[in-house]
Amino acid sequence: MADFELTNRSKYNQNYKTSIANPEAFWGELAETNFLWKSKWNKVLEFDFLSPKIEWFKGATLNITENCIDRHLKQNGHKTAIIFEPNDPNQESEFISYIELHHRVNRFANVLKSKGVLKGDRVCIYLPMIPELAIAVLACARIGAIHSVVFAGFSATALATRIKDCDCKIVLTSDGSFRGAKTINLKAIVDEALVDCPNVSTVLVAQRIHSEITMKTNRDEWLQPLLDQASESCEAVAMDAEDPLFILYTSGSTGQPKGMVHTTAGYMVYTAYTFKTIFQYQPNDVYWCTADIGWITGHSYIVYGPLLNGATTLMFEGVPSYPDYGRFWDIVQKFKVNQFYTAPTAIRALAKQGEAFLKPYDLSSLKVIGTVGEPINEEAWHWYNTHVGQQQCPIVDTWWQTETGGILISPIPHCFSGKPTYATLPFVGIQPALMDDNGNEISDTKAEGRLCIKFPWPSIARTIWGNHERYKNTYFSAFEGYYFSGDGAKRDENGHYRITGRVDDVIIVSGHNLGTAPIEDAINEHKQVAESAIVGYPHDIKGNALYGFITLKKAVSSENHENVKKEINALISSKIGPIATLDNIQFTTGLPKTRSGKIMRRILRKIAGNDTSNLGDISTLLNPEVVQSIINQTQTK
Ligand code: WTA
Repeated sequence: MADFELTNRSKYNQNYKTSIANPEAFWGELAETNFLWKSKWNKVLEFDFLSPKIEWFKGATLNITENCIDRHLKQNGHKTAIIFEPNDPNQESEFISYIELHHRVNRFANVLKSKGVLKGDRVCIYLPMIPELAIAVLACARIGAIHSVVFAGFSATALATRIKDCDCKIVLTSDGSFRGAKTINLKAIVDEALVDCPNVSTVLVAQRIHSEITMKTNRDEWLQPLLDQASESCEAVAMDAEDPLFILYTSGSTGQPKGMVHTTAGYMVYTAYTFKTIFQYQPNDVYWCTADIGWITGHSYIVYGPLLNGATTLMFEGVPSYPDYGRFWDIVQKFKVNQFYTAPTAIRALAKQGEAFLKPYDLSSLKVIGTVGEPINEEAWHWYNTHVGQQQCPIVDTWWQTETGGILISPIPHCFSGKPTYATLPFVGIQPALMDDNGNEISDTKAEGRLCIKFPWPSIARTIWGNHERYKNTYFSAFEGYYFSGDGAKRDENGHYRITGRVDDVIIVSGHNLGTAPIEDAINEHKQVAESAIVGYPHDIKGNALYGFITLKKAVSSENHENVKKEINALISSKIGPIATLDNIQFTTGLPKTRSGKIMRRILRKIAGNDTSNLGDISTLLNPEVVQSIINQTQTK
């Protein structure tokens, strides 16, 4: 990527300028000189943000796995592609070379083919962070099947919803997973989900925890014997640039999650380029992103971005607290990790444990450290900078989304530095805009508004699976001609962006996006619940925690309150997953509503955050008296 490298400010300025002045020439040349194509495109970009329709490199054919694996074989076949670090530190790590990855992906792809999986079919992957997960993803891509990875912390109901939405006929899973001192029986969760998914005819099960599981005849099969019999060569299917590569679900403001569809060529070009430049990856570096492949961060920056660059990428099965809070640093030292990428919630949790857990370890291999998933508060930023980066490492606070496919706003080491709580400047090709309350773009440099992007970049999601109208309404209707992110942001006098958080009904808890509607739907299924409203409130470690204001149909005795609370959280756990349980539940006599019947969450957010000094004008509410009663209750609690 010689001409495209971003190694100093003037290179960034120059590339940024060209990418905006002539995006087609910029991305066309970058794509042509850095990737393997089976045939070339007719046009670099065609788009219309009103339909909306976005096509990059239309007409080209390629296979992303040839770019991730095959083209590195000749020169770097013996280089480690994936380091697997198991949950248990006493178990051996695994080093998978590019040659071995090639064989394992091909074998897996052949197994999928033998089960009748064809190009365009959707494959649900519900696996823990073991090598089979990355290999399954690549095996799908090898044969043009569309992978839909579901994070293995999701419940049976959430899994079933995702399987049905894109009509997967096959599910790839394991007997279970290790998470710290716990084991989780994933196969049982799949069995429960499949009661509701009659179209699934095949379940392939990787063995990980050696637990007792039930195998359903004619549907379930162990994966390993099939892999052992499969051939280690498999032709890479020619994909059109705009053929879907994967679907990944993200929460929205209604109960149904949105299956974001990412296509092949644009996603490849953008994730490869951002990985290389933002993490400043050098050929012998070891890169580690602590995310789960079940989220977009894992797709783009554990699997695709690193492998496209021939990098060594580390996959960690466990959790930061097992066997103790020094585990991350132990791993950094053990593999001499050079780039480390994690979430603010992990940083806050580790900071809280104190520096004693860091002291025994040598972190001097680190060159760049990053964060993603939510705004990082100043204190956590400084702790990260001082104790992890040892004031030697640029911090990349990367802002992006499942929908954007890759990082859109971030510091770029050596080009410009980070500043606490600022994601700073747009990446090459990205044109952010801040919109005011009247829907107009704010022209002043120093401003605050809703964050939009006014020109397509190669890895933007192309649609929501099966619901293009919802895609249009969610992202392209709030501000005509712009992609609306759902986030608010501030811009300082130097044009640096600071993301202030969601401005819609999504709450980010420990870096996980949670829509309020699905949680409320789950709560409302409790037979005693009349109505509920969920809001976020500040939490030291999670960033936000969930606060539920719940009205019961009939008053229950206060001894029974605790039981009902437990039942409500159990319901949420089973419908969505433990990540969505409430930290605080308050039973109220009513919820504040506008005269048209809309719940005033703004007021509830203030009450939950213990900030009731300025609630604004509540006299126009349908039931202003409810507000005072809720406040009185919180004060006597
Ligand atoms: C938030 C994760 C502040 C934001 C890649 C966004 C951030 C949502 C940052 C997307 C950041 C992500 N600073 N906020 N550096 N990164 N966010 O889809 O609200 O899981 O809209 O993608 O996370 O979350 P998602």
